[in-house]
Amino acid sequence: MFLEELHLINFKNYRNSSFSFNPGLNFIYGENGNGKTNILEAISLLCYSKSFLMNSDSDCVMHGENRYDISGGFENASGSKSRVKISYNRDTFAKELYYGNEKVSKLNEFIGSFPLVVLSPYDLKLTSGTPQDRRRNFDLLISQVSRVYLSDLRDYNKIIKQKNSLLRENVLSRRYQPMEVRDMVTLWNSELLELAVKIIFRRLDFIEEFRKYVEECFNKIVGTRYIPVITYESDIFEGTTDTRFDASEIRSRLKSLLDSRLDAEIKRGLSLSGPHRDNYIFSMNKDGTLFDMRTFASQGEHKTFVVSLKLSEFGYIKENLQHTNIGDPVLLLDDVFSELDKSRIAKISQLITGFNQVFITTTDIDHLEVLKLSFKETKAFNIINGTVQSI
Ligand SMILES: Nc1ncnc2c1ncn2[C@@H]1O[C@H](COP(=O)(O)OP(=O)(O)O)[C@@H](O)[C@H]1O
Ligand SMILES: [Mg+2]
Repeated sequence: MFLEELHLINFKNYRNSSFSFNPGLNFIYGENGNGKTNILEAISLLCYSKSFLMNSDSDCVMHGENRYDISGGFENASGSKSRVKISYNRDTFAKELYYGNEKVSKLNEFIGSFPLVVLSPYDLKLTSGTPQDRRRNFDLLISQVSRVYLSDLRDYNKIIKQKNSLLRENVLSRRYQPMEVRDMVTLWNSELLELAVKIIFRRLDFIEEFRKYVEECFNKIVGTRYIPVITYESDIFEGTTDTRFDASEIRSRLKSLLDSRLDAEIKRGLSLSGPHRDNYIFSMNKDGTLFDMRTFASQGEHKTFVVSLKLSEFGYIKENLQHTNIGDPVLLLDDVFSELDKSRIAKISQLITGFNQVFITTTDIDHLEVLKLSFKETKAFNIINGTVQSI
């Protein structure tokens, strides 16, 4: 699919702007602080209903105004067109999303309709950042190809929220009898168990499938000396090196973890086990030795890993959606060239030419000539203080 046009009203520094995009490369040039990233942020709001930068909606409303309106026209792989609108009112906190004329009330029925892969300087901390950053990244990726996963995840998170608030309240108020709390927590545990099993099972399955994309992509960028490895870290694997569990094994291990930690959870006022505490570990196999990225990687290796990861997401979504009429995802590259050296930029430019619609923001106009050689169709924009001019 691709984004044909975008219209912004009172969105950040855009008062009222329209963009008509190219199905190939869209090159967005401008000096720092003029509004390039804001355009990509608006696109991510249309596709995810959230900003890829995790900015709050009220921060996205133009200063002095009370609401933003974003609308976009998409065309999918079979040529059919659809319009998506999203608005937010900072006074009433009302956020509304329309897909065509239908108001979207269930996000899991919308996410994935317009798949997106985003790479921004913010992602460069994926390898070194918190487990939450990595979970969020992969949750969003899997959600774009699996509505069931997103729906399970939302249900699970709701239960964890309720369980946590019970545990916290109990620590603060001591208003329940010990037996009473144990019963209530046990009840939440039985509610969340099946969802937790499904989520963990899906994540293990995902890692198994995703591996080939990352290896292939890494190979194209740096050669075969380094092999990227992603593993899933969870307390359910305690005491074993085999992580290829089936659902019943996950269930029985998680069940005993939840039981054995019941008292510890009540004491600490926090739920301690389950997929919301798990982690993805990135490592690199370098000439046969495995290095954990968090401790051993150089700055350049971190960047290469993240770039490969993101470009692999493209392949993963593309292949998983190939039997739908949605088509390939759109790729947003926010200011990433300034973070990479020339040889990496050249490799990446070559790699992405086979991609679908691509948006690249940069402060360096020189990249345009190079990219034009690789892309059949290119459209370039100059962004000056919230206004747009064609180049
Ligand atoms: N809510 C807002 N209202 C008005 N302007 C905003 C708002 N939020 C951010 N901006 C402006 O947007 C600009 C930054 O845009 P950005 O897209 O990040 O620039 P860049 O071209 O460097 O990517 C800054 O000038 C900032 O003041
Ligand atoms: Mg920017």
